Amino acid sequence: MHAKLSLATILLTSSLTLGLSACDKGAQPAAPADATPATPAAADSVAATPAEDGADTDPGAPGVKWADKSFKQRQEYMGITFLKAQKKSFKAHDEAQFSGFKCQTCHGDDMKETNFAMPTDSLFPLNAKDPVGAAMEYDEAITKFMVEQVVPESAKLLDMEPFNPETGQGFGCFGCHPTE
Ligand code: HEC
Ligand code: HEC
Repeated sequence: MHAKLSLATILLTSSLTLGLSACDKGAQPAAPADATPATPAAADSVAATPAEDGADTDPGAPGVKWADKSFKQRQEYMGITFLKAQKKSFKAHDEAQFSGFKCQTCHGDDMKETNFAMPTDSLFPLNAKDPVGAAMEYDEAITKFMVEQVVPESAKLLDMEPFNPETGQGFGCFGCHPTE
């Protein structure tokens, strides 16, 4: 009786133990015991990369001029720096109209399909010969905001000169807007 009981107990115990350890094994990969030793190594290798290459590999590569950024760096820079600055300006111009200011406000709802190409047809088309004059007749307040704030700030953030009508060079309305 005792022997039988203890055998049963042993069997029960060992099968429980086996069962538990099988469960443990299944759960192990997600358990922190394995991840903990790996974390400092991963952190080291992440930290080592920017240290070797300097600002180039920081997210958005703030030390690299816009023209020289990779696509990925441009995408990060848009998210980290450009959107924030523009959102602040657009909301300061008209809080109600631009409360939901986001990537799509400039790039359009099809931004992924167009690969963020600018200018985009999703923005208001401007007169090719006289974009500012025609836009002033259409909406003076927003046009002034575009001329005085959006163009110079965008140019600066993109490491370009604002459009100069005398030379025809620089970043202007048609960096974002299509022509009519
Ligand atoms: C205020 C308008 C504006 C907003 C908001 C904006 N972008 Fe841009 N984006 C531009 C302009 C203008 C360019 C093109 C600059 C140039 O002439 O090279 C551009 C370029 C890009 C490019 C590079 C495209 C290429 O072919 O090199 C990417 C990627 C991008 N934007 C992603 C984003 C993302 C992601 C967001 C939101 C986090 C965003 N943009 C928000 C105006 C905007
Ligand atoms: C960095 C990108 C960018 C540049 C550069 C830019 N705009 Fe805009 N513009 C926008 C965005 C974004 C809007 C708001 C679109 C919306 O409300 O959906 C806008 C709106 C406008 C509107 C109002 C359109 C409407 O539907 O009522 C006019 C007019 C306009 N811009 C003219 C200009 C002129 C003129 C210039 C050059 C002096 C210029 N923009 C430069 C991004 C730009």
